[in-house]
Amino acid sequence: MRILLLGKPGSGKGTQSKHIAASRGIPAISTGDLIRQAIRDGTELGVRFKSFTDRGLLVPDDLMIEMVAERLAKPDCKPGFLLDGFPRTVPQAEALDRMLAEKATPLQAAVNLDVPDDILVERATGRRSCPKDGTSYHIKFKPPKTLGVCDACGTALIQRPDDTEDLVKSRLEEYRNKTQPLVAFYQARGILIDLDGVATPEQVERRIESALNNTVRATA
Ligand code: AP5
Ligand code: MG
Repeated sequence: MRILLLGKPGSGKGTQSKHIAASRGIPAISTGDLIRQAIRDGTELGVRFKSFTDRGLLVPDDLMIEMVAERLAKPDCKPGFLLDGFPRTVPQAEALDRMLAEKATPLQAAVNLDVPDDILVERATGRRSCPKDGTSYHIKFKPPKTLGVCDACGTALIQRPDDTEDLVKSRLEEYRNKTQPLVAFYQARGILIDLDGVATPEQVERRIESALNNTVRATA
């Protein structure tokens, strides 16, 4: 399946994409993770990315589009993929349409996780993650067994630098101005799945799985 997850910062895209992609045997591709990896590697591109993410701003479209085109060309994307956090602007969505049209492999579903802003700030500011294996926790909703330490590998957990209250608000502003229009974009293409993202992660996952199964049945 070729799917993407839309949603505001902290709406649960990363949490859900890992499970959904694993259950379907396809790669979960997070542009946020690719950007953070480039920043950690200290590449020239990473330095440019950081100047935007440090301010809670989206990085320029041309850089993102090139990065995603390269990633989707890899062999593991042949059976399908799940995009988390791409596209984030109408030009990115149009570029993705063109990339997929070239291969006659159109997108099948755009899942939008709907969560009110006040909940998002709490989710994002309370998030902690493992720098070694990427496991994500929340100080209240998904605490690790031992405070501040990854359950799986024992590494000290870190907080993302853009998870401060001020930067979450800037990211929400970027979402409203640039990403929100994609809900109507995918609705007009008839592939939008709009879901309530306020529930436990397990309940949200069941909602997504059931909606995707219906989509597959409808298009079979
Ligand atoms: P990115 O990493 O994509 O960040 P984001 O969209 O701001 O989303 P988050 O990763 O913060 O949240 P999420 O929806 O994945 O939620 P999660 O599952 O972790 O992008 C970062 C930056 O990179 C952007 O600001 C931008 O600068 C740049 N960028 C990325 N893509 C770009 C693009 N295409 N174009 C331009 N720039 C781009 O959950 C959050 C927390 O809540 C966790 O602690 C989790 O445990 C908890 N949680 C999850 N679900 C639930 C639940 N149901 N109940 C309770 N808690 C929950
Ligand atoms: Mg994420």
